[in-house]
Amino acid sequence: MSHSYSKSLESRLKSSSDSLESSHMDQSIQSSLSSSPSTSSYADPTSSNLNILSPYVPTPSTFIDRLIPLLKPYLEGAEVGTVPFIDIGSGDGRVCISISSHFNLPSLGLDVTSLCTSAAQKISLEESTLHLTTFLTLDATTLKLHDILNDQKLEAFRTARIVYLFIYPTLLKAVKNILKEIMGVNEGLRIVTQNYHFKDEEGEVEVSVDVEEDGFEGLKVWRRLY
Ligand SMILES: C[S@@+](CC[C@H](N)C(=O)[O-])C[C@H]1O[C@@H](n2cnc3c(N)ncnc32)[C@H](O)[C@@H]1O
Repeated sequence: MSHSYSKSLESRLKSSSDSLESSHMDQSIQSSLSSSPSTSSYADPTSSNLNILSPYVPTPSTFIDRLIPLLKPYLEGAEVGTVPFIDIGSGDGRVCISISSHFNLPSLGLDVTSLCTSAAQKISLEESTLHLTTFLTLDATTLKLHDILNDQKLEAFRTARIVYLFIYPTLLKAVKNILKEIMGVNEGLRIVTQNYHFKDEEGEVEVSVDVEEDGFEGLKVWRRLY
């Protein structure tokens, strides 16, 4: 039986992912015991008080496989030279890597912990997608529209087609306003939520993939956020 790329990647990453999950949990506990989180948007990798608002749990390969046909119409229309896919809370980078590998398009992953971004860089190198992926260590709750409009490292947000979110409701709630602002300047942008979604009254859903599998719920593509 032939497996999809994301399924094989999932099995290759099984042990490194389990170990990342455990060190991420340690760092989260350490951070919650420390005082107030840093206010700087680029997370200090040496800091023990990171604003970790979601645990590390990877997207199951079955959902990455559903994501690919769902995103096809959006990503294939992307302008050459832009970065059409962004994962906020990118973990070990497997979603960016799978999307970049499948569509041969650039992607950007942001994560508050350098544990995650370093793992993502290493895996991307092993998967030969380093030329297509960028991983930034950044607290997504400190993103500001001014920086998105002026900071070269964040310029992907100005033209991206998709921002992917598989993040706990705490973080989802914290990034909603900035995403709404970005959608105001980038009208072609769609937000995709996986498992944890905005409430129906918080936006307008364009496509919904309603599946429940292994405790994970479906995917939603949001055309607008209110
Ligand atoms: C559920 S995991 C999703 C990982 C990856 N997107 C995937 O689908 O495989 C959520 C990620 O959000 C990151 N995260 C938590 N708080 C964050 C914050 N304030 N800013 C950016 N990322 C954050 C965690 O480090 C974790 O890797």
